[in-house]
Amino acid sequence: MQENSISGLAVVPGPNMSYLTGSKFHLSERPVVLIIEQNKSTFILPELESAKVSGLDADCITYDDKDGPSKAFTQFSENNNFTELGIESRTIRHLELNLLETTKISTKFVDAIDIFAHLRMSKSDKEKECMVKAVEIAQESLESTIHKIKPGVTEKEFASELVIELLRNGSESELPFSPIVASGINAANPHHFPVDKEFEKGDLIIIDWGANYEGYFSDITRTFAVGNEIDSKLQSAYDAVKNANSAARKLAKPGVQAGLVDDAAREIIDSAGFGKYFTHRTGHGLGLEIHEEPYIKPDNDFVLKEGMTFTIEPGIYIPNLGGIRIEDDIYLEQDTALSLTTLPRDLVFLPL
Ligand code: CO
Ligand code: CO
Repeated sequence: MQENSISGLAVVPGPNMSYLTGSKFHLSERPVVLIIEQNKSTFILPELESAKVSGLDADCITYDDKDGPSKAFTQFSENNNFTELGIESRTIRHLELNLLETTKISTKFVDAIDIFAHLRMSKSDKEKECMVKAVEIAQESLESTIHKIKPGVTEKEFASELVIELLRNGSESELPFSPIVASGINAANPHHFPVDKEFEKGDLIIIDWGANYEGYFSDITRTFAVGNEIDSKLQSAYDAVKNANSAARKLAKPGVQAGLVDDAAREIIDSAGFGKYFTHRTGHGLGLEIHEEPYIKPDNDFVLKEGMTFTIEPGIYIPNLGGIRIEDDIYLEQDTALSLTTLPRDLVFLPL
């Protein structure tokens, strides 16, 4: 905050609040705001949630459902006003902003998400352990369910099996996202939602799934074939994606610009003739959020550092034919990219 000349930060329920306080809240109709100053912090929150913060070194102003939140915000504003207040532009709502503004806690707001991003990007050993565990849970869950893919089983049915297995293997119940199971021509849509389509011989199936361990996420994708033969164009595309994934992992290390890692993957897919079908960035940061800094995208001159965690996930999506994505979770060690994901990347043909 000193470096950024910010005297106050307003934090709402979400990953930044969890990161800073260890307490878990949902964004609900009852606002919860943590106001951080350089020498103290104050929670404004519903009385019924106050037990969650009782052990923290923070002041507490509570409200009940009878009075509503504005009295508590007004009480805070009697002694605390900011010429400008740092906010999380992607999380805070009109509900909180309006209370901060009408009670004159501040009337000017600046985006402070970079401050949080810089705190959270490099993971501590404890955070890394949680991510390793989240990867393990996800991998085990796929390995024990993949045999259920057969012609006639639907995308939705398989996705349900995978979810149950993730929970059984120890994922928190709030999964990072609902698994993507996209088969045949559905795999040409990178963010397809599972439907009642049955798997068929010759389909490629993109499975993109993850687990949550103590709030930390994994996010993995593998692509499988049903039967023992696929379209030759899809086979060439598969090889290009696998090589692109490998090239990006080889290049990623501390000191390298994120954009160059994206280039490494993109060049291989371009030169294989599939450039126009690689429609997204190569990867994204991963941790308490499924998408966070650093973004592995074209022209990003951000320099990667030790301890950062992000995905490498090139893909090719050919309309009316199918698609491929191979996504690994990377942890940057001192001079190399360690893949936390260890599932094979060669195309697996699932027996009929
Ligand atoms: Co994914
Ligand atoms: Co991802």
